[in-house]
Amino acid sequence: MRIQGQDYRTIWEKAGSPGLVQIIDQSRLPHEFIIEDLTTVRDFARAIRDMHVRGAILIGAAAGYGMYIAAREAAKTNYFNDYIRKAGEALKSTRPTAVNLAWAVEKQIKIIQTGNTIDEKILLAGETARAIAREEESACQQIGEHGLRLIRECGRAKKGKAINILTHCNAGWLACVDYGTATAPIYEAFNQGLNLHVWVDETRPWNQGARLTAWELGQHGVPHTVIADNTGGHLMQHDMVDMVIVGSDRTTRRGDVANKIGTYLKALAARDNHIPFYVALPSSSFDWQLSDGLKEIPIEERTSEEVKYISGQCEGKIKRVLLTPPDSPAVNYAFDVTPARLITGLITERGVCEASEAGIAALFPGH
Ligand code: MRU
Repeated sequence: MRIQGQDYRTIWEKAGSPGLVQIIDQSRLPHEFIIEDLTTVRDFARAIRDMHVRGAILIGAAAGYGMYIAAREAAKTNYFNDYIRKAGEALKSTRPTAVNLAWAVEKQIKIIQTGNTIDEKILLAGETARAIAREEESACQQIGEHGLRLIRECGRAKKGKAINILTHCNAGWLACVDYGTATAPIYEAFNQGLNLHVWVDETRPWNQGARLTAWELGQHGVPHTVIADNTGGHLMQHDMVDMVIVGSDRTTRRGDVANKIGTYLKALAARDNHIPFYVALPSSSFDWQLSDGLKEIPIEERTSEEVKYISGQCEGKIKRVLLTPPDSPAVNYAFDVTPARLITGLITERGVCEASEAGIAALFPGH
């Protein structure tokens, strides 16, 4: 993606500095654009936990690089395998819902084991981290191409009038390595000249929509409007939404989707108003072991401080202010599960399928 004329991915290795990985610190956007250096496993764990990097795909890519750095660190100890195992556990414990994190760590551990020497193990870990990032980038690009077809179909009925797409949270390029999941079809359609407009849910409490989706759509010139989280139902009742596209942090083999808290309510409103509700995800966001999302997907609970306080720009400085009575308790469930029956279709790198065990198995045989 281009930011002020320069091409960026969300994570990269600094040229000429082996072992130095750089990210865009998303906790500071949209008011400050800060590049952060990550050089230790501890840095990676902190960056994921504190959401300097976030979004299921990017968390997975960051974990891939984190394990590469772990291999470099492990080489300086006398207990390489144990160090790798502990680093993997430390990374996995940072955020429990996005399956991409565990997927990337397990993939690295398996591949590192195949190296015959420490040098070979480090080499393999570096190649794997780069491959994960590259493959996720290409999967998102393919999601864009498959999703474009759906936006085109929806646009036919609009006869040139703007197609209104509602999205929740940030399932944009910032949540991935590039392109985004939910936003990939939107960027593709916009680039092809389709007339579209995006309703951006603010996404309390961390405000990924208001801070990040609005920022990245704006950088690309995509027309959009930020709305308070509770607005979507009203817009849907008044024919102001043509389709909903969201991302996923974990999708079970029968098509139940965990995504940012509030996604389920949008799916209910979409169903009540006969509006198509799509989920865009690469195969790394499927959890093939799980079936019943409601019972089986672990839901991250974050600090209540994120609900009680809000931060934003005030006179050129980022300030954090208290919203609630100081002593009122608050609770912060970060994700909810949308049952497959409310989902019109899943947009994956292999095409679009029904959110059902049969639909998913037809696209991904062998799982
Ligand atoms: O808590 P976050 O910001 O990591 O949650 C992000 C989301 O819920 C996205 O919608 C999701 O990761 C899907 S797109 C990669």
